[in-house]
Amino acid sequence: MAKFKSKWVCQNCGYESFSYLGKCPECGRFSTFVEEIVQEKVEVKSKNSSMNIGSGFSSGYSKITEVKLDKSIRISSGMEEFDRVLGGGFVEGSLCLLAGDPGIGKSTLILQTAKNISNQDKKILYICAEESTSQVKLRANRLGADSDNIYVTQQNCLEEIIGQIDDLKPDFLVVDSIQSVYSAQILSSTGSVSQIRECTNIIMRIAKQYNITTVIIGHVTKEGNIAGPKVLEHMVDCVLNFEGEKYKTTRILRGIKNRFGAVSEVGVFNMEDSGLIEIKNPSELFLSDRENITTSGSTVIPVLEGTRCLLLEVQALTGSSPYPNPRRVARGVEYDRLLQILAVLEKRVGLNLSRQDVYINVIGGINIQEPVADLGTALAVLTSARDCVINHETVCLGEIGLNGEIRSVDNLEIRLKEAQKLGFTRAIIPKILNKTVRGRIEKINIELFEVSKITDAIKFALGV
Ligand code: TYD
Ligand code: MG
Repeated sequence: MAKFKSKWVCQNCGYESFSYLGKCPECGRFSTFVEEIVQEKVEVKSKNSSMNIGSGFSSGYSKITEVKLDKSIRISSGMEEFDRVLGGGFVEGSLCLLAGDPGIGKSTLILQTAKNISNQDKKILYICAEESTSQVKLRANRLGADSDNIYVTQQNCLEEIIGQIDDLKPDFLVVDSIQSVYSAQILSSTGSVSQIRECTNIIMRIAKQYNITTVIIGHVTKEGNIAGPKVLEHMVDCVLNFEGEKYKTTRILRGIKNRFGAVSEVGVFNMEDSGLIEIKNPSELFLSDRENITTSGSTVIPVLEGTRCLLLEVQALTGSSPYPNPRRVARGVEYDRLLQILAVLEKRVGLNLSRQDVYINVIGGINIQEPVADLGTALAVLTSARDCVINHETVCLGEIGLNGEIRSVDNLEIRLKEAQKLGFTRAIIPKILNKTVRGRIEKINIELFEVSKITDAIKFALGV
């Protein structure tokens, strides 16, 4: 007979304890522990099939020199933007987690993908664990995703799901969403860390053993984490985040982990009535609202997202603060980075912001993770504070050090080429020390202002 025991599990990171803890020692969050009853040994089996769920990996060991390379076959999602984030399409038999806020468009993206994959003569099984099949059918009609190769089932019991997979033997499996799937063998409630972890584990084993390419959809909690996130992330081959602002139509697909390709690639889409439309040149979209008569507090920065360069507008607004502690709001740039930039402006440039609120916003809803945005952010703040403008055909690049020095930037050539392509004629950049880099950059038709200090950059930017 199976033995039961009770344990307390942090619902944020999966940390386990024998007693209740107010604060999780692993992730530091408060009040995240929930009691879960678990069996000592869980054996999940299909109710109506003899499907053998092994470890999913071949046994035995061999010399690395004798290991035969698998021919990893890629299945195209039918969308260039999606394929690039995946590193060239889904790898056959891989397990991918698609995470995002509820309502952002995860089901839409995957249904469109399913339609494209069904055109490649592949069988798809779509597990609707949180919607009815007629709701999915309605969406499919809207997206033109009616296909005889797409099978849908309204099911959230893992044991039943396994039976259906065994019966249909699909090439591509979608589980929408993992938080709604439960195994009858696990006593904790649906959506708990134990359920999510075990169900994903079983699905992973099936995917590997039967070579079924699988996408698991996962919702994100309020704090921006996938519920039970850390426990899922290390299990799957690929983690994709689908992001966007609630009241805007732009959606960004970002690779967080990819065992078969580069991470930090992004794909950009627009949510329209007929579904998600790929945006092949996002810089144009992000800069389209920009006025030609420049206003103060605006700069453009060429940022690398994976292998692609995006031109992003950074806006800053400063004004005298009604609060005892002036506000600093950073949307799209790191908060700590903003504080550092303000400190440098104060100390090295003499800009007094101690009684001023500072707001930063990056247009397009993209979070800039590279420090190359420092100079653009600093110049946006400065021009807003002094109410002056920078020539609107200028891009700025450079990391700012604590002494006000401008540090070098990699992949300068790609960034400047993209800027030139979009009609920018001037670039404020760090001093180029490498001769080969200089040779290549001088061929680009863009006027360069090389600076080594923030004060020099300000002189060039304001033309003084
Ligand atoms: P959905 O894919 O259901 O989101 P998720 O699975 O992430 O919860 O998308 C829901 C939103 O997308 C909903 O607000 C309506 C919108 N939408 C469109 O704008 N166009 C479309 O063609 C579809 C199918 C959805
Ligand atoms: Mg959905």
